[in-house]
Amino acid sequence: RSCSVRLERVLMEDLPRCDTCLVIFHLTVCDKSVERINQWNSEKLPIYEPGLDDVVKRCRGRNLFFSTDIAKSIQEADLIFISVNTPTKTIGNGKGRAADLKYIEGAARMIADLATSNKIVVEKSTVPVKAAEIIMKILRANTKPGVNYQILSNPEFLAEGTAIVDLVEAERVLIGGEDTPDGQKAVQELCWVYEHWIPAKNILTTNTWSSELSKLAANAFLAQRISSINSLSAVCEATGADVSEVARAVGRDSRIGPKFLEASIGFGGSCFQKDILNLIYLCECLNLPEVAAYWQQVVSLNDYQKTRFTRKVIESLFNTVSDKKIAILGFSFKKNTGDTRESPAIHVCKTLLDEGAKLHIYDPKVEKDQMLYELTHPYVTSEPESVRKNMEIHSSAYSAVTGAHAIVLCTEWDEFKELDFKKIYEVMMKPAYLFDGRKILDHDALLEIGFHVQTIGKRL
Ligand code: UGA
Repeated sequence: RSCSVRLERVLMEDLPRCDTCLVIFHLTVCDKSVERINQWNSEKLPIYEPGLDDVVKRCRGRNLFFSTDIAKSIQEADLIFISVNTPTKTIGNGKGRAADLKYIEGAARMIADLATSNKIVVEKSTVPVKAAEIIMKILRANTKPGVNYQILSNPEFLAEGTAIVDLVEAERVLIGGEDTPDGQKAVQELCWVYEHWIPAKNILTTNTWSSELSKLAANAFLAQRISSINSLSAVCEATGADVSEVARAVGRDSRIGPKFLEASIGFGGSCFQKDILNLIYLCECLNLPEVAAYWQQVVSLNDYQKTRFTRKVIESLFNTVSDKKIAILGFSFKKNTGDTRESPAIHVCKTLLDEGAKLHIYDPKVEKDQMLYELTHPYVTSEPESVRKNMEIHSSAYSAVTGAHAIVLCTEWDEFKELDFKKIYEVMMKPAYLFDGRKILDHDALLEIGFHVQTIGKRL
């Protein structure tokens, strides 16, 4: 197929490219932050993501560039993906729920100022419904002769820890555009880019607003499944049922399916809570209080689950953790990532610190500074000095557990399943307690060794 988008044709033997048209996409990632871009251009990338180092090493300097020269990048691009942060507002209207779109607006204004040729602007960030309208209004109020804009919504569905696989083998790509001939042409151009590695049947096209809402809806549905199974985990603990068995039985119904039914100490990450709060705010603005209340319950149940688990830890330790050494295994919000945003471990650590515990934390990928940042943040504590004094960060699980009264496992890292728990039992205080917040350990073997074990959704 011939290409209608002007793309740089660079023929290099070892670069992945489309066999049909021999096009290699020339991609420039821009950021205002010099420090960030320097990190992306260095040997140590600023984030840990399995497989990412390989991709960056293979393509950087060939058809992948990291740059702070935003003006040049905007001017040279045919397609511009806006992938900025859309955090929850901390002040003003919608505080605590609505998404703050100031970075989206800033990016649109920058494009309006600097563009000198036609652009397809793709909204990649997760945004509330109708956010594309902001971009449209800004760009179209500032058009210059010979410069036309099309705005598309193309939400991202990859999950951290599996980002590269999710990108390469995406189950679906969603593209929303305007229902006009130019809008549809832009949709087709973006489809064409994806068709280089995604089967056409997996590329869905919709109108712009359906695309924006589908992103929030997908995350809300996923989070709702976790809250549903977590709610049942409390029933299991009270009755003697086992939540894993219930999940297996329920998930066998093909209409329900087995995925995302893993009971836990609660979901974390930068997306689920933020996106549901965003949806709730949207419903409130649309005067749909019953719908808002329905989704609010997904978030409230998640808070309840984190609190319920931490309360169980404290109650088991004779209702006091003051001055007790507690080992925290795992701090990231899930395995295979160093990301700590909204990690349930933060809630667990904060509550234990408030109760006077001495925490000894180990995570394979979270840097010390990041843990300190999360636990001494003004939202978390008014006494950062006392937090610093009462937490120690370790470079191995074995050193974190030495002399501990209890182990609290917060993240499901595979290496925790391989630990030598006999050895660990010997170096702990007795009675030795273990709280498995992710249901990943062999509980019968731990009980055999002598541990007092508690987990989610099962009485032991
Ligand atoms: C999530 C979605 O899965 C992605 O599809 C979406 O693109 C992404 O948000 C986003 O909007 O950017 P992510 O937050 O990276 O991806 O990770 P998930 O695998 O969804 O896990 C989220 C949280 O739920 C984690 O804390 C995880 O431990 C927890 N979880 C997940 C459970 O407690 N039980 C489960 O069965 C599954």
